[in-house]
Amino acid sequence: MGIQESITKISSTAQEELFACQEAKEIELLKVKYLGKKGLVGLLMEELKTTSKEERPLLGKLVNDLKVLLTSQFESTLATLAAKERSRQLEAEKIDVTLPGRESALGKKHLTLMMLDEVIEILKGMGFTVQYGPEIESEYYNYDALNFAPDHPAKDMQDTFYIGPELLLRTHTSNTQVRVMEKSPLPIRIIAPGKCYRNEDINARSHVIFYQVEGLYIDSAVTFSDLLVTLEELFTKLFHKDLKMRFRPSYFPFVEPGVEVDIHCIICDGKGCSVCKQSGWLEVAGAGMVHPEVLKSGGIDSEIASGYAWGFGIERLAMLRYGINDIRLFYENHLGFLSQF
Ligand code: PHE
Repeated sequence: MGIQESITKISSTAQEELFACQEAKEIELLKVKYLGKKGLVGLLMEELKTTSKEERPLLGKLVNDLKVLLTSQFESTLATLAAKERSRQLEAEKIDVTLPGRESALGKKHLTLMMLDEVIEILKGMGFTVQYGPEIESEYYNYDALNFAPDHPAKDMQDTFYIGPELLLRTHTSNTQVRVMEKSPLPIRIIAPGKCYRNEDINARSHVIFYQVEGLYIDSAVTFSDLLVTLEELFTKLFHKDLKMRFRPSYFPFVEPGVEVDIHCIICDGKGCSVCKQSGWLEVAGAGMVHPEVLKSGGIDSEIASGYAWGFGIERLAMLRYGINDIRLFYENHLGFLSQF
């Protein structure tokens, strides 16, 4: 084959091969194949040496033209590919400034604390001041000062988290009662909210941790009906209903008489449902008249003063209000649950 034919052949295969290239590195390979030191164009240059003096200038020009042509085609195809790649990247990085922004969620109070705030606000409005007792408490203030017998079953390790000899996590906010009596002149009219701990099985109805609000009113002539109207007003305000309430006799060592306080089921209006277990009533608090022995622990003479006390759970109130049927939800921190309130 003459050089001229070779030039035509090489030129057309180079075009075809270039046309088929998808990536820069394939073109780089073509550059080596055609224009490299031992490339096909180089070989043609070598071959020129074997041609006659007359033919050589013309053939030389043709070979050179081929070299210039291929060089420029390779480079321009490389440039086109690079531009395509750049615009592909730009497309991928494109930001749609018209999209609405992502809302960042603001934190807020936990359901329990919202409920607690509401209870505190109502009771403050009724003349109570807030006092906080310690969560880590002595056996004395949690039990003994409250007229628990030394061998009372509630003092058992199975119900109480002891953290040392005579030291425990309070099992109720009643631990605050005698502490307040010791340091306050009469009348005493306080509430003591806070966390309590019990060594119980965790299930839908009970947990090892929960909030209570203690109420304590001591003055020269506090009566059982004072207790009744106060709780009635509190629960009526909380549940925004024309509420019915009843007291059932019950036993707590630190009150005499002691009662359990029930309200008419706010879910079924007393008709009977699964929440009130068909009874029409919901138990909401323990209460009673402060036992003379407890007044004595607090340095108060039961001849000249009397008082009432109550204690109730905050989660339970929230459960009743919102129809929540599992107390564990209060301690699992699922935003899906909490953000509903
Ligand atoms: N401390 C009691 C409890 O935790 C509730 C209570 C408080 C009962 C005050 C009577 C008076 O169950």
